Amino acid sequence: MATTEKPTTEAAEALPRDYTLRLRRFDPESGEAPYWEEFVVHLEPHRSVLEGILQAKGDTDGSIGIRCSCRAAICGSCGTRINGRPGLACNTHLESALERSKDGTITVEPMGNMPVIKDLIVDMDAVHWKKQRRVTPWLLPQEPMPEKEHVVPREAMVDVTQAMACIQCGACVSDCLSMEVDPLFIGPAALAKAYRFVGDPRDAKHEERLEDLANDPHGIYDCTHCFKCIEACPKGVAPMNQIMRLRRIASQDHDIVDKNDGSRHEHAIVDHVRKWGTLNEAQLIPDSKGGKLHPKTAQELMGSLPVVATALLRRKVTPRTALIHHKTPNQDQIRRIYDEVGAREERVELNLYVTQADEEETPAESPRTQDQQLGETGSPRPQASTADAIPETES
Ligand code: SF4
Ligand code: SF4
Ligand code: FES
Repeated sequence: MATTEKPTTEAAEALPRDYTLRLRRFDPESGEAPYWEEFVVHLEPHRSVLEGILQAKGDTDGSIGIRCSCRAAICGSCGTRINGRPGLACNTHLESALERSKDGTITVEPMGNMPVIKDLIVDMDAVHWKKQRRVTPWLLPQEPMPEKEHVVPREAMVDVTQAMACIQCGACVSDCLSMEVDPLFIGPAALAKAYRFVGDPRDAKHEERLEDLANDPHGIYDCTHCFKCIEACPKGVAPMNQIMRLRRIASQDHDIVDKNDGSRHEHAIVDHVRKWGTLNEAQLIPDSKGGKLHPKTAQELMGSLPVVATALLRRKVTPRTALIHHKTPNQDQIRRIYDEVGAREERVELNLYVTQADEEETPAESPRTQDQQLGETGSPRPQASTADAIPETES
């Protein structure tokens, strides 16, 4: 009698199995409201959610709308929301999507903040590409142009590498909280693109670009620093970090005081933490608007009255806590941090996005990563976040 050999654990894991995909369906031309539809697909666990959708489309319902091209996390076409989180369908394993699902069903829906054309396809032109065009996404070179190539310090190019890694998938746009409130916000992807040129020494219009983006009411100061775009980005571009760099260069290097009071507001927050350890809310508006007697202060205070009244009614604040601000204990320790950072001769640059060892190192030298070298040389622009590291690609 023939015996059936048991598959090894690895092979067993690779065997195809059933996965249930719950897809968001919507056809604007039908006049019907969006609805959910389930499809069972049979694939190996390491296959992607995109492959699952394509199997459902090929075997069950050819009318499923999904945009894709490279199937290798390069073209940025297959941005969707999987189990409520934005990402690339071709870069998400079925098994890991299942692990993250709430009820054993993988939900896939179109990205947010963009109109749906059909099912999982959103209108990137109406939002994402329009915003890209807003930031003049090309180099405005210095004149006269060099006769041969324009030699650029390698540190400068390492600095913009992270922004250049963007594949224009729109995942960050999909999850941007500011854009939900203000659809005119230029947004994370386009502002990361703007940094790509502000950080490029060959571009001649740094200051003009920064003036423009700082003074636009939907520009760099419209970002609420929520980190959503960093979490969403499948390529580790960390758009929020690029926006913060734009702000710091605008404010600290070019002394741009924008008409939205964004830079004043940032300075007020920094001063408050130095002085009190926390924000003095009663003082924040005057400090952000140019002083107690500035007309904008009165206007802003009037606008804030309903919020203050609600907070008082709900006893979140009392007249005493609103008017008398308490210092944090051990305030001197906070001041010491300020003094230490302020005493540095120049801002330290740490680009943690590029982590491989420098190929030009001589073997005798101890191997150093490029980010270490940048940290030592201290390029003029600030950044640094552990969130800058390149994420692992799933498939
Ligand atoms: S950090 Fe700023 S740009 Fe990024 S998602 Fe939040 S609000 Fe949008
Ligand atoms: S920044 Fe990241 S999430 Fe946003 S469009 Fe580029 S690759 Fe996609
Ligand atoms: S199909 Fe190209 S990124 Fe997914």
